[in-house]
Amino acid sequence: MSKPHWRPARASDLPAISAIAARIHPDLPERSEVFAEKMRLYPDGCRVLAADDGIVGYGLTHPWTQHRIPPLDGFLEQLPGHADCLYVHDVAVLPDFRGGVARDYVVAIEQLARASGIATLALVSVYATQPLWQRLGFRPVTADAELREELASYGVSATYMLRDLAAT
Ligand SMILES: CC(C)(COP(=O)(O)OP(=O)(O)OC[C@H]1O[C@@H](n2cnc3c(N)ncnc32)[C@H](O)[C@@H]1OP(=O)(O)O)[C@@H](O)C(=O)NCCC(=O)NCCS
Repeated sequence: MSKPHWRPARASDLPAISAIAARIHPDLPERSEVFAEKMRLYPDGCRVLAADDGIVGYGLTHPWTQHRIPPLDGFLEQLPGHADCLYVHDVAVLPDFRGGVARDYVVAIEQLARASGIATLALVSVYATQPLWQRLGFRPVTADAELREELASYGVSATYMLRDLAAT
């Protein structure tokens, strides 16, 4: 079995992405049209983890505004004209294929940000993933009232985190 690798997501990967999302995030459901919109608006940030037998993970990222997050299962409509971060919407990998792959995805997104003149990565940590993201250089950020409201749709464990690329 060869090592799974990240490659750009294609429209034909959508059923696999939706199936993995439904399995990994049963309590945070999103419509496949919402994934498709991100792939259409910012294909560079949307990748799948390809293994011998098919897709075993995905990562979805798009330019956004720091301290703001799109609602779960909501359409972006359009990307901000002056984005100041790349926002990692989600990374999800089937359990058997975990171990080093989130790091690989984040390295790719970091390179993309630098190439686009963007100096910050952002994400919402859910479940108990905060230590994992801290290990990858993100720090939890205190949310203002508006951000707290936006975070509510991501569940009680949701924490907004930023990583400053200039400092690393
Ligand atoms: C999040 C997810 C994609 C991570 O995939 P992964 O391949 O296991 O992640 P990595 O091994 O690349 O982890 C990145 C780093 O965090 C470390 N790490 C992992 N779990 C950790 C933990 N509980 N505490 C501290 N560090 C941790 C890893 O050791 C690694 O550091 P290293 O490269 O220096 O060894 C995977 O666990 C997943 O799909 N989870 C379910 C969906 C999910 O929660 N997605 C995130 C939504 S915010």
